[in-house]
Amino acid sequence: MKSKIVVFMTVFSMIFTYGKSQVVPVTDADRVAANRSAADRATADAAADGEEYDLHPPERGGGRPFMELLNERRSTRTFTDRELEPHHLSGLLWAANGVNREEDGKRTAPSARDMREIDIYVITPKGAFLYIPEVHQMRLVKSGDFRKEAVGRSDFAAVAPVILVFVANAKKMEKIEVASRDNYAHIDCGYVSQNVYLYCASEKLATVAIGGVNKEAMAKILGLKNDKVILSQPVGYMH
Ligand SMILES: Cc1cc2nc3c(=O)[nH]c(=O)nc-3n(C[C@H](O)[C@H](O)[C@H](O)COP(=O)(O)O)c2cc1C
Repeated sequence: MKSKIVVFMTVFSMIFTYGKSQVVPVTDADRVAANRSAADRATADAAADGEEYDLHPPERGGGRPFMELLNERRSTRTFTDRELEPHHLSGLLWAANGVNREEDGKRTAPSARDMREIDIYVITPKGAFLYIPEVHQMRLVKSGDFRKEAVGRSDFAAVAPVILVFVANAKKMEKIEVASRDNYAHIDCGYVSQNVYLYCASEKLATVAIGGVNKEAMAKILGLKNDKVILSQPVGYMH
């Protein structure tokens, strides 16, 4: 009996001290449940900066035929304010620049010299999050609604429930010559943006690339020093 109590206390204290980010769901059902609650927390008011949120496991099959996507790909400038379903947020980020080869961490979008320098910040009415492709999570960077800054002059898009902001990560470009950095970052950002366009075409979501993002304001909000804001891209449901 005594040993049973000891085992119980040990297990209980391990669970207690581990904390939510280290709890590894055991089955797919557990994982979906954990992700669902994490996605709920991601939109909660009382979130703490730096907190990480699991996303749904991305659906890596299906979708509409490729030629149909090209036929449907377009810029749409009207959005409803309806929050994105968790599976859409997950699929969107994975399609944009998620890991599609776990063995070496390579991505859905190509990148010059495999720099993987395009960071995606996810701006929602509740806060600015950084997408972390390696673990398919979002990390809260700052609480608050920064959608106006994320679309700048294109204020018609500030109503969108999610605005992606693409940023060139200076640290990840250190290994290449200075003269090539901006060029490569802009090209690589284009691939990520096109992935978003194609995912939106597949899921009948509205999106448009926004070059007029308020870069200075966004850099301040996100606490960027050397990293450069390149482009933003609102995503939402169509009217
Ligand atoms: C780099 C880039 C920046 C853009 N910036 C804006 C923008 O600030 N505001 C806007 O309404 N559309 C913007 N667009 C969308 C273009 O206007 C749009 O792609 C173009 O009119 C062609 O339409 P389509 O995407 O439906 O084919 C941008 C597109 C790209 C590729």
